[in-house]
Amino acid sequence: MIKKSPVGTVRKLTLSFTAALVVSCLSPAVLSAETDTGGEVEVLHWWTAKGEMNAADVLQHSLEQQGIGWKNFAIAGGGGESAMTVLKSRAVSGNPPSAAQLKGDDLQEWGMLGFLTNLNKVADAEHWDQLLPPVISRIMKYQGHYVAVPVNIHRVNWLWVNPNLMQQAGATVPDSLDAFFVAAEKLKAAGIVPVALGSDPWQEVTLFESIALAVLGPVDYRRAFVELDMSQLGGDKMVEVFRRFIAMRQYIDVKTKAMEWSDASAMVVHGEAAMQFMGDWAKGELTAMGKLPGQDILCIPAPGTQGYFTYNIDSFAFFKNNSAKHLKAQEMMAHTILTPDFQRQFNLAKGSIPVRHDVSLAGFDPCSRASAEAFKNSEVHNTLVPSLSQGLATSSYVQAAIFDVVTDFFHSKNADPEQAAHRLARAVKSAR
Ligand code: BGC
Repeated sequence: MIKKSPVGTVRKLTLSFTAALVVSCLSPAVLSAETDTGGEVEVLHWWTAKGEMNAADVLQHSLEQQGIGWKNFAIAGGGGESAMTVLKSRAVSGNPPSAAQLKGDDLQEWGMLGFLTNLNKVADAEHWDQLLPPVISRIMKYQGHYVAVPVNIHRVNWLWVNPNLMQQAGATVPDSLDAFFVAAEKLKAAGIVPVALGSDPWQEVTLFESIALAVLGPVDYRRAFVELDMSQLGGDKMVEVFRRFIAMRQYIDVKTKAMEWSDASAMVVHGEAAMQFMGDWAKGELTAMGKLPGQDILCIPAPGTQGYFTYNIDSFAFFKNNSAKHLKAQEMMAHTILTPDFQRQFNLAKGSIPVRHDVSLAGFDPCSRASAEAFKNSEVHNTLVPSLSQGLATSSYVQAAIFDVVTDFFHSKNADPEQAAHRLARAVKSAR
């Protein structure tokens, strides 16, 4: 069984570098090399699956149409772990890219180190405070200043279902965890793999967080993973989360070889597995495979999480540089990303929904429309929760500690839910 290191382990090491490195990053020698690039942006991202590349193409073309050159800096690996490692080595060697896909708490960590360009000029001129939902604008700011521009809203608590396989097994699309286990048992009895799951720790945590949301509900989910309340992390309800999580393992063809999330999506499309727990970037992949989401492959809220919305917001941050031309290109990119036309085209390809509520969803598939509806309702009912697996809930240090406990538990032969909950509380306490 392959066990990779969690997202945050490397982050912790590198982000603890001192301010001296920030200074070296901005040394004049480095700046002159960057100045030569003119109106070009070098963009680091991890959008390398088919649907993701289609979305990145939209961004590239929108910039090129305005005379801004695009230097692609794509680092494969869903969840962005490898991309973050590469970004850190470029940044600490004094040569960061102009723009990088950075999100959630990472923005605070990079902001604190002084690397990021202040975007207030564009944000004020274009009224981002009024344009963006507060839950999103808050994430984009470091100490009250915009340091990133949001691209989209992904919903993470989705279950993707192959309806033909469900029918073959006489299974019903599940709307609760209990119903999920009934369906999974029927599928297994019919010789069908119930759940496709790739091999990365973040994919296992994606499954874990959906179960946690179903068992804990949004209030206790936030208490546990945002407020880091020890009694929630080590409490009885968390024991139940681990119990349900490990019960799922028998319905998953746990991989011994590396497998991407997009390979798991392809298994559902090709009838090799009935379901996948995954954010709606999976939908970009389905669309790229010529499938109609909501019809060929169904999208339903992860069982037991109807009415809740686990958000993952992709965003770009820009690295400081003394060249005015360079800054102009960064500001143009930030401006472009929030234009209604870009928001529509990009999100149609990516599987996510626009961050602006005033963008028309005409032509979007039923899953995107359901996602937009769920987001609005969750804003009103306070049932929006940040994704733990995607780095939106807590710092990279705490996230790494949680990933370790969750993935060790998932792969352990003698997984003990009570011990796991206690370990979780202890690990978070020492990492925070
Ligand atoms: C990103 C998505 C991406 C997914 C898989 C997530 O961390 O937010 O945009 O599609 O990883 O690569």
